[in-house]
Amino acid sequence: MTTGEEVLSVARDGRVAMLIVNRPSRLNALNRDVCEALVRTLGELDRDPEVQVVVLTGAGDKAFIAGADITEFEGRTPIEQVRALDLLPVYSAAEVFSKPFIVAINGLCLGGGCELAMAADIRIASDRARFGQPEINLGIIPGGGGTQRLPRLVGLGQAYKMLYTGAMIDAAEALRTGLVDEVVAADALLDRAQSLAATIAAKSPVALRLIKEAVKASARMPLDQGLRLESALFGLAFSTEDKVEGVAAFLAKREATFVGR
Ligand code: COA
Repeated sequence: MTTGEEVLSVARDGRVAMLIVNRPSRLNALNRDVCEALVRTLGELDRDPEVQVVVLTGAGDKAFIAGADITEFEGRTPIEQVRALDLLPVYSAAEVFSKPFIVAINGLCLGGGCELAMAADIRIASDRARFGQPEINLGIIPGGGGTQRLPRLVGLGQAYKMLYTGAMIDAAEALRTGLVDEVVAADALLDRAQSLAATIAAKSPVALRLIKEAVKASARMPLDQGLRLESALFGLAFSTEDKVEGVAAFLAKREATFVGR
């Protein structure tokens, strides 16, 4: 089933929702319409109990997302630009989304595209993908988390190299530095992303959410506090029907059927 937005298509396959940014003639650049559609759609999918995992990719074979739409920079005052980012928090939308979020990076992944991908839970790239933070070439800096999430993923030196030069790196280097988690042949990308999503979608929805909450906290909490949070969330997981089902299924040597309670 395909529904929805002109600039963002949404296809559902069981518990997996596939989102496709659909502006291939502009290399899927993030204009206001795309940002609005992404933020609104992710909010809807977060509330939809039938959806457990989201995969995001770009239309066409050239670009995942080539950054913010540069044409919108012209004529905006600094305050308007900062306000636009605040009002449409697209770059943290994947992180705010409470369910597993995978990006399938099918081509150019630049600027805001790279920033959006970095906020996702798992990054799978085509071997033809290329990555960069080219803001420096426009005389600006990343505004969607690039200076914060990039060094956390790849370390300070690799981050400085990308941010200072604006140069692109290929998929192999992105894998080596830890910017992406897996690289596959271009024609296998969507199948791989969908099969990973389907594997995850068969798990306990409530346990998946608790994992995401705990792992996100690891980025902002000292270890002792993170361990205490994990302990509390573990207690919560232990109180669910899914825990009863998971343990019973293991002992009976059958597949578990999780209901998300
Ligand atoms: N914003 C707005 N339009 C964009 C865009 C962006 N971020 N990235 C590409 N486009 C547009 C191009 O202007 C072009 O439009 P046109 O057909 O009207 O000329 C179209 O998409 C196709 O891109 P094109 O530049 O012709 O492709 P290319 O293969 O020659 O070059 C890039 C690809 C990625 C090197 C080049 O498009 C580019 O540098 N884009 C900007 C990337 C960027 O700086 N992103 C960060 C923004 S903060």
